[in-house]
Amino acid sequence: MCGIVGYIGKKDAAPILLEGLKKLEYRGYDSAGIAVQEKQGIALVKKKGKLNSLEEILKQKSPRGNVGIGHTRWATHGKPSTPNSHPHQSSEGEFVVVHNGIIENYLELKNQLKKEGYVFDSETDTEVIPNLISKFYQGNIEEAVRKAVDLLEGSYAIAVLSKKEKEKIVAVRKDSPLIIGLGEDEYFIGSDIPAILDHTRNVYILDDNEMAVLEHQGVKTYTVEGEELDKEIFNVDWEASMAEKGGYDHFMLKEIHEQPETVKNCINGRLTETDVKFEGFTMDQEELNKYNKIYIVACGTAYNSGLVGKYAIEKLARVPVEVAIASEFRYRDPIVDENTLVIVVSQSGETADTLAAVRESKAKGARIIGICNVVGSTIARESDDVIYIHAGPEIAVASTKAYIGMITVQYLLAIYFARIKGLLADDKSREIISSFKQIPEQIKEVLEKNEAEIKAQIDNYADRENIFYIGRGLDNAVVEEASLKLKEISYIHAESYPAGELKHGTLALVEEGVPVIAVATQTDVIDKTLSNIKEVKARDGVVTAVVTEGVKDLDDIDFRFEIPATNELLAGILSTVPLQLLAYYIAVERECAIDQPRNLAKSVTVE
Ligand code: M6R
Repeated sequence: MCGIVGYIGKKDAAPILLEGLKKLEYRGYDSAGIAVQEKQGIALVKKKGKLNSLEEILKQKSPRGNVGIGHTRWATHGKPSTPNSHPHQSSEGEFVVVHNGIIENYLELKNQLKKEGYVFDSETDTEVIPNLISKFYQGNIEEAVRKAVDLLEGSYAIAVLSKKEKEKIVAVRKDSPLIIGLGEDEYFIGSDIPAILDHTRNVYILDDNEMAVLEHQGVKTYTVEGEELDKEIFNVDWEASMAEKGGYDHFMLKEIHEQPETVKNCINGRLTETDVKFEGFTMDQEELNKYNKIYIVACGTAYNSGLVGKYAIEKLARVPVEVAIASEFRYRDPIVDENTLVIVVSQSGETADTLAAVRESKAKGARIIGICNVVGSTIARESDDVIYIHAGPEIAVASTKAYIGMITVQYLLAIYFARIKGLLADDKSREIISSFKQIPEQIKEVLEKNEAEIKAQIDNYADRENIFYIGRGLDNAVVEEASLKLKEISYIHAESYPAGELKHGTLALVEEGVPVIAVATQTDVIDKTLSNIKEVKARDGVVTAVVTEGVKDLDDIDFRFEIPATNELLAGILSTVPLQLLAYYIAVERECAIDQPRNLAKSVTVE
């Protein structure tokens, strides 16, 4: 929910912290701050608003020192305000902390600390942490941090500075991500890899209940109980430029254009002529037959990807699949046992609700397959097996390339399961796989053919209050995601429906000029969808349709976006692309904050 950074080395810390925070702004952007060790003490600078508000202050006067920590916030406890921004300090100002996560028992701790004379300046849960450290400090900062976190319930990744031990940063994590960058005589802390990628590719990925102590002479890692660890160095193989905008106006547009690469990376090395294989993951027929049900559990766009996954797995492998919203799943006492396969999908691998579903399912004996983007993320590590989507860093809050990666992996899984079960003959499998290999080029084609056209037509949609999406079967799964994309970045009210469902209520909202966007790529239901389009036209709605090129003339359609012909099962990848562009250009026209929509954050690590 928030981003944290840290630096210790020979350079000026403040500019490095600020640059690191810019790379993490996708994690939260309602306020930001830094703390730097200066000769006279710790200098704290923080400000409500986006990072440029903090940057403006730092331009006037920046603290000087080469040890520091920083934070970019997405409010949970306490509104966005300067006092609630991080870093937070203990009442006497000796200890300074940045925190990502939620301390669930903070009220109880706060009341106790208040009775003991500690004074609080903010409404945050975080402020109890520096005060607890202060309470327990007896000459050893690591020891004080250990005692403090021992009392915390909830999730945290924290970094701590102290006036008492100036040349040191202590960091600990539980249920919130934290990495340590290992440079030449300089060391870094980040909530995520882009924060440190300009400086080093060597990182430690901290696990839950691990602590790192950063000093000028190096980094030591420990369990939270104090046992020293010999952690493996993880080498990041992304290019730093991959985490930048690369010439596009927004990360979202860049990420839409990266999708041919996403699919390529996702299928690379996983397809033979007739089969799918995954590195480090296998399942035999006996095991697959044991599963009488598959759950796909996720949130938001990842949930929508599961709707495509369900369609593909049921169609090819004939196993019943239920797609479940992660935030509901664990509280409904789900019927899960050792005969259930649970597939969890998460770009960040840190979504709190999805992680809770992993733990719930594991406790009930299910096998968990994680589909994740962020390597080494908590969900990736806690799942029994993980299949990465290899989409590279996704910075825009609105997920595009990660969605394409997620559905690609789920298509691969569907083929994999169907082959294990003997339900997909060689020739059929060869046909799907050969179509799959063409998808990256076909996405490029969709982008090239449709982008200018979409921009030219944008006035037909941009000033509307409501836009409806319809589709049947696989197309219905696609429109669920298309409508989410539109609402989250353009703030237009959008709803998606199975096309046949419109007449059971929502058709009442269709009147002259109301845009209805239909996806109609599946030949078995296209005539039915066309009838539904006629129903809309009869009420003077304006219809846009995404169809396969060469499909017979559709008289009732006002606007048409075409995708190249492919195996119909895979059409979900191609038909998504023009609708992502449509959402993007509508939001551009409405001058919305596309990469950072209001009220949203990229990684939702609270329930
Ligand atoms: O990191 P995750 O895939 O677990 O995130 C899940 C959702 O928070 C995410 O997909 C969200 O809905 C995006 N804003 C969609 O664009």
